[in-house]
Amino acid sequence: MIKIVKNSLIFMAVEKYNKENNIKSKEPAGPPQKSKALSTRASMENIDKNLVSIKKPYSMEADLFKVLRGKILFPVSGNPPRSILVTSAVPGDGKSFIASNLAVNMAQNIDETVLLVDCDLRQPRIHKNFGFNSVKGLSEHLSNHTRLGDLLLKTMVDKLTLLPAGKPPANPSEILSSAKMADLIDDLKSRYDNRYLIIDSPPSCMAPETSAIAKRVDGIIVVIKCGSTPLDLLDEMINNLGKEKFIGAVINQYDMPTSRYYGYRRYSKYYKKYSKG
Ligand SMILES: Nc1ncnc2c1ncn2[C@@H]1O[C@H](COP(=O)(O)OP(=O)(O)OP(=O)(O)O)[C@@H](O)[C@H]1O
Ligand SMILES: [Mg+2]
Repeated sequence: MIKIVKNSLIFMAVEKYNKENNIKSKEPAGPPQKSKALSTRASMENIDKNLVSIKKPYSMEADLFKVLRGKILFPVSGNPPRSILVTSAVPGDGKSFIASNLAVNMAQNIDETVLLVDCDLRQPRIHKNFGFNSVKGLSEHLSNHTRLGDLLLKTMVDKLTLLPAGKPPANPSEILSSAKMADLIDDLKSRYDNRYLIIDSPPSCMAPETSAIAKRVDGIIVVIKCGSTPLDLLDEMINNLGKEKFIGAVINQYDMPTSRYYGYRRYSKYYKKYSKG
């Protein structure tokens, strides 16, 4: 299920799960900490079922995000990245799913706080994963100067705050590639030194703004949908975004019987190409 190809980098597989609505859980479902219902605006039943780190914190699926967290926070060499972009080459690979679960898992298990930013202004998803309906967010901050403090959302997880995408604008590429956006990321990174920043993004081969965001972060995690993400697009993406920031790949929707022959090994060989050292 999980394979580390190179110690200094993450390379892991997240299985495709609940195919038959059958999440195997070692312990009863429920949030790992007391829910602060009064301080959140979303209730447990509105949380997306695939947000396993909240819905099924003791499941095998949630455990995979603990492994991912460990790989990020305790790299074999160097310091852990404080700002992490989660992206993929094409739509639907599982970026928002990975970013959301990773953010929850980090916030539940470290002393620092986590800010999860939805930079996919085209297909915003993060607020829905956390059970919010349409909300204002980054888009309103960048275009209307709405104060950031009025846009941040508390979640069920004490140390996790969301900056949702907001209403999709007509010009997502322009506003996310603007100097104002660059300043915002720099500000979010530097304002609190005890905070991790996790950024969800649109597919990089289709949305030029992902490259602009990549320039401001410390590290990039690439999500690969097992058996479907084209290798030539991956090459193009990693070269465009900057190999030096590439901290790892997550093979998503790994389906053991077919992946063994078709998907996983193919990506594993490819991955070695980008391994450092
Ligand atoms: N390993 C998985 N097992 C089960 N469901 C998954 C898995 N990964 C992703 N999904 C589900 O697949 C759907 C698409 O995932 P997600 O929205 O995260 O993709 P995305 O890459 O962010 O898409 P987009 O490019 O449109 O932003 C979601 O409903 C998500 O919950
Ligand atoms: Mg998404």
